[in-house]
Amino acid sequence: MRTIDWVDGAIELVDQTLLPDKCVTLRIETVGELVDAIRRLAVRGAPALGVAGALGVLLADGEPAQVAEQIAALRAARPTAVNLAWGVDQAAAQLPRGREAVLAAALRVRDDDLAACRAMGERGADLLEGDRLRIMTVCNTGGLAAVERGTALGVVQTLHERGRLAEVLALETRPLLQGARLTTWELARMGAPHRLIADSAGPYLLAKGGVDAVLIGADRIAANGDTANKIGSYALALGAERAGVPFIVVAPETTIDPGTPSGDQIDIEDRGADEIVTIRGVRLAPEGTQALNPAFDVTPHDLITAIVTDKRVIRP
Ligand code: MRU
Repeated sequence: MRTIDWVDGAIELVDQTLLPDKCVTLRIETVGELVDAIRRLAVRGAPALGVAGALGVLLADGEPAQVAEQIAALRAARPTAVNLAWGVDQAAAQLPRGREAVLAAALRVRDDDLAACRAMGERGADLLEGDRLRIMTVCNTGGLAAVERGTALGVVQTLHERGRLAEVLALETRPLLQGARLTTWELARMGAPHRLIADSAGPYLLAKGGVDAVLIGADRIAANGDTANKIGSYALALGAERAGVPFIVVAPETTIDPGTPSGDQIDIEDRGADEIVTIRGVRLAPEGTQALNPAFDVTPHDLITAIVTDKRVIRP
């Protein structure tokens, strides 16, 4: 299944806000619709955002100034995942050469993602030692976060295909529950053994033993290796270090941002109080409760055992 694609002059994408209850494909025909889909996480995950950004340039229309305005809005729809702006830039650079050139560039971003995820899956599975691996992961880094196969969950998929996966422990990933809703859905479709855990159980279960590796994705990797990923990643990195468990980031080269020297300079999206004080429309906290909602955190490079990309393995 493709999470996102270009079909008959529009973007088609799986609406991830409705999973796992319904698998509905949205047809996106304007930049405004795409920006809205990105902001409400109908499409999400760094590689998928890169593809959405590139394909989205094809939806920009009007006078040159209006096109430029739409492209700027698309680039800024979410700030942390560098792939979004990168994907937009890949396609927008071809605008002077005409629509066919933009289309070719955008489809290249899509196709490169398919190849990169396959390569990361192989490289990550080769890196890990052992026959019956128990893997811990956070958020959703599977095909839903890319085009067909994912990054960290792509490694899990390859391990499973090679008969080397004992179990995945998936963090539920409050507040939007990408782990509980999406990762479990993908693992069930793969037929991969898994159990869902509360986010706060992660470090304790690492300390208890029996987890062979923590695999996470990334939204932006700074030049020094500091890595922004879904909130909760840093706690897992601390727990993994204390327990002596390898903590591995799996991300395409396009997630490395040489223009950001270290994690301090990464813009971390705050998604507002509603996602914290309510859950799927049901209020949890008293009326008027204030909240902080950083969607990502930054894991310092010295807590990362290795970064696996589509081209190489990077060590601190
Ligand atoms: O807020 P989200 O769901 O877009 O956050 C996604 C993540 O944090 C992923 O781990 C990251 O984008 C890598 S996806 C292969």
